[in-house]
Amino acid sequence: MAGLIPQDFIDDLIARADIVEVVGRRVQLKKAGREFKACCPFHDEKTPSFTVSPGKGFYHCFGCGAHGTAIGFLMEFDHMSFVEAIESLAASMGVDVPRSESDKPARRYDELFSLLDAISRYFQACLKDAPVAVEYVKNRGIDGSTAKRFGIGYAPDGWSNVLDKFGKSPEATERLLATGMIIAKDNGKHYDRFRDRIMFPIRDARGRTIAFGGRTLGDGEPKYLNSPETVLFHKGRELYGLYEARQALRHIDQLVVVEGYMDAVALARHGIDFAVATLGTATTSEHLNRLFRLTENVCFAFDGDRAGRKAAWRALENALPQIREGRQVRFVFLPEGYDPDSFVNEFGTDAFLKALDEGVALSEFLIQELAGQVDMNTVDGRARLAELARPLVNKIPPGVYRELLLDSLAEAVGLTAAKLEKMLGRDKSGAAAVNASGSLSRPPARKPMSGQPSVIRHAITLLLNDPAACLKLDIEKLAGVSRAGVKLLRALIETVQAEPNITTAGLLERWRHDEAGRHLGKLVASEVPLDDEFNAAAELGDCLEQLAISGRKERITFLIEKQRVNGLTDEEKAELQELLKAA
Ligand code: UTP
Ligand code: MN
Repeated sequence: MAGLIPQDFIDDLIARADIVEVVGRRVQLKKAGREFKACCPFHDEKTPSFTVSPGKGFYHCFGCGAHGTAIGFLMEFDHMSFVEAIESLAASMGVDVPRSESDKPARRYDELFSLLDAISRYFQACLKDAPVAVEYVKNRGIDGSTAKRFGIGYAPDGWSNVLDKFGKSPEATERLLATGMIIAKDNGKHYDRFRDRIMFPIRDARGRTIAFGGRTLGDGEPKYLNSPETVLFHKGRELYGLYEARQALRHIDQLVVVEGYMDAVALARHGIDFAVATLGTATTSEHLNRLFRLTENVCFAFDGDRAGRKAAWRALENALPQIREGRQVRFVFLPEGYDPDSFVNEFGTDAFLKALDEGVALSEFLIQELAGQVDMNTVDGRARLAELARPLVNKIPPGVYRELLLDSLAEAVGLTAAKLEKMLGRDKSGAAAVNASGSLSRPPARKPMSGQPSVIRHAITLLLNDPAACLKLDIEKLAGVSRAGVKLLRALIETVQAEPNITTAGLLERWRHDEAGRHLGKLVASEVPLDDEFNAAAELGDCLEQLAISGRKERITFLIEKQRVNGLTDEEKAELQELLKAA
C-alpha cells in the first residue's frame, strides 16, 4: 500500500505524532476545551470552524469539511505526496524512515530538488552576464525586482553549459537526465535541453524548483520549451506563479488564472500578485482543486479570440463538479489581440482590475455559449438549449448553486423552473449525480434488508472515535450479516483487536488507499458524545447485537423464500427452526 515503507512504521509514527504540533507549526491554534481551534487554512472564513483533536490525532473543518490525520494535513497544506508527508513527519520527530537499501527515493528527490535550485541560481547569474538577454527582459517590461522574485534567468547558448557544470560524474549526469535538463543522444552522450533561452523556474508550493520554461529571445521554434514530465514535475498539476503569489500575499482574496508565463509575471510587475498560469495545458480539475483550496474566488482571464473562448469552455467543464455555494468562478475575455501581459502593459493596472470586475459569471458564460449554438428565436432552438445544458447542469453537485443556474436557464429559454426541470429529467440524473460522489453518509440507493440503515455507520463512527471500545467485541456476531459496510466494520474490528494500541489516526491511515475506507474520515468528524459517562464499548456491543438480530432476520426471510421456491434441505429446515425459536 505505501510502497516500501513498512505499515507498522506508519502506525507507530502516526500514533506518536502530535497533530497539534504539526498543524500548530503552520496555523495559529487556540485551545478550546479538549480541542484546538483556528480559522480554516483550506477555505476563507472569519470565525474559526477548524478543529484539531489531539486525542484522535485528527483535524476537521465544520465549514468546508476538510479533515484528516497529521499525514493528511501535510499532504493538503504543504502539497506533499503521501510518502513525502511520512518523510517530513518522521524527520520532524527525528526518526529515519526504514526502507530497503536498494531504493531510496527520498534521498534521491532531495538531490534532484537541490540540483534544480543550483541550476536556477546559475541561470540567474548567467542573465546578469548576458546584456542581450537583460535587454530582452527589460523590453518586455520586467523590472529587476520582479525578475528576482520569479527567479528569471538565462540559459546561455551552447550544447553543454549545464552538462559540464552539473554533470561531472556518471551519477550527476543521471540526475540531470532525471530532471530533464539534458537530453540523451543515441551514442550515449548528452546535450543541454535549454540553450539561449530566457528561463522561468517553475516552483512547487514550497518554493522548490521542479522544472523550467524557457523562451526564445527571437522567433525561434518552439517559442516556449518546457521541462518534460519528470518525477518532480507534473504539468497538469502545477500552476506557475502560485508559490510567488502565496509569498506576496498574506490573504488570498482571489486568484486569476492566465495562460502564459509572461502573463503571470507581467501582472505581478503591475502589482497584481494573484495571477497564476497553467503551463500550456487546459485547466485540469487538479488545478481547480488546488485553486479552491486557497480561495473561493477564481477568475479566468483569457484572450478574446476563439482559442481563448475554447480554453475558457474547457475550464468551465472542469470547474462544474467543483462548484458549490460560496465559490465563485468568473471569466474575463480581453479585447481581441490582447493577452493579460500586453493588456496590462498598455492600459495599466486599474484597467485590468476593472476588466476583472466586469468578468462574466460561470452561469452567464455557460448560457451565452450555448445560446450561440442554437436559434433562440424558435421554440425548438430554446428546447435544444435546454438539451445542451442538461449534461453540464448535471455535473454540478446538487445544491443552491445548481438551483440558481437552473433558474437562469429557465429564464433564458422562457420556461418556468419546474417545467425546465421536468424537461431535463432531473430526477434520474439528479440521483446519478448523488451516487457519483457517494459516501457512507448518504442513504443507500437500495433499501437495506432490515433494521435501521445507520447501525453500521454508527458502529464504525464509535469505533473510529474510540478504537479501544471494540477490544472485547465478539466478531462472530457478524457472521451471518451480509449488508453493505459490514465487511469494513469487521476488518476494522479485526485490526484493532490484533493491534490494541492503534489510534484513530492510525486506522485512517491504514485505510487511506482503500476504496471502501475513503470516507472514514467523515465519520470521525461526526458527532459522538464526549462526556465520560458515555460508554462507547457498551454502545458498540448494542450495535453488534442489533446487526446480529437483523442478520438472523435476513436469514429467516431468505430461508422462507427458498422454501417457497426451491424447498429446503434437512439442514436448512433445522436451521430455520432454530432461528424462528430464537427470534
Ligand atoms: P502564448 O503563445 O499565448 O504565449 O502561450 P505568451 O504567453 O503570450 O508568450 P509571449 O508573450 O509571446 O512571451 C501561452 C503559454 O503556452 C505555453 C507556455 O506556457 C506559454 O506561456 N506554450 C506556448 C508552450 O509551452 N510552448 C509554446 O511553444 C508556446
Ligand atoms: Mn504574450
